[in-house]
Amino acid sequence: MKIATAGAVRWLVELEPVADELMNRHLATAREWFPHQYVPWSLGRDYDGPLGGEPWTPEQSALSPAVRSALVVNLLTEDNLPGYHWTLGAQTSRDGVWGAWLHHWTAEEDRHASSIRAYLHAARAVDPIALERARTAQLASGAVPEPVGVLGVVAYATVQELATRVSHRNTGRLSGEPVCEGLLARIAQDENLHMVFYRELLRAALEISPDRVLTVLDATVRDFAMPGQGMPGFARMAAEVAVAGVYDPRIHHDDVLLPLLRSLGIFELGGLRSAGEQARQRLADHLARLDTRAARFVERRAQALAVRARRGHTVHTGAPRTGEA
Ligand SMILES: [Fe+2]
Ligand SMILES: [Fe+2]
Repeated sequence: MKIATAGAVRWLVELEPVADELMNRHLATAREWFPHQYVPWSLGRDYDGPLGGEPWTPEQSALSPAVRSALVVNLLTEDNLPGYHWTLGAQTSRDGVWGAWLHHWTAEEDRHASSIRAYLHAARAVDPIALERARTAQLASGAVPEPVGVLGVVAYATVQELATRVSHRNTGRLSGEPVCEGLLARIAQDENLHMVFYRELLRAALEISPDRVLTVLDATVRDFAMPGQGMPGFARMAAEVAVAGVYDPRIHHDDVLLPLLRSLGIFELGGLRSAGEQARQRLADHLARLDTRAARFVERRAQALAVRARRGHTVHTGAPRTGEA
């Protein structure tokens, strides 16, 4: 990993007052919540092992395979918090408001994994042994996205927080299970406020140096992928999640990238130099290519699901689109 340079220090100093204001706004807006109130403990019973209870079997939960995969991918992403904490701390600072935000953000994020895991265990929704092995394998692999520099971290976190919000929200909606939906909607509210913190930092940085920010944002958006390195079975689970409509290229384009770039006014920015103009053009080209790929994906998915439906297979799809800001 590359460590903060003099350029990074400059950004830390320049953005510090904005980060301070945004953190205060976050603390005034975020509502405290308690994971134990969102977990259906009455569904729980002892498992096999030292307690001598009942082993897990797939038919103990009515959740679809795609929703189970989405829950596992979402949870393993949240489980990787130590890696994210380390990356963010190394690329920004553990001092002052940057450190205060990093630690507060970490405390909020830590609720997400613990509450989803408690839900999955109580509801017997996924294989708890496979889940624990996957968590161990992922953390032991040390795999974590490594954006570089203050702007790289801020740009990456903006996209990632929004993508995570959308993924949690759609998983809950598609689950058809009100308790699951309630928990994931609550977590999605946290992700939304985290996204706002990073997006507004990006907006402030754009006012200081639009060309530099556009260059970083362009690279971040073009390189972005939902985190999956180090997750056992990630390719299969990601495909299931896409087919189900929890997170797919159409959602990535329509519900994440486009609203984000529009909110930041990227396509209306004036006074750019050549580097900024070129970065903006690359972003626009990327979006157009993604839109085409998304259209093809949706068409092929509809054809594949129609074939499966004709053959009498159960089709689990149709997560309603996210719409909130
Ligand atoms: Fe989270
Ligand atoms: Fe978050």
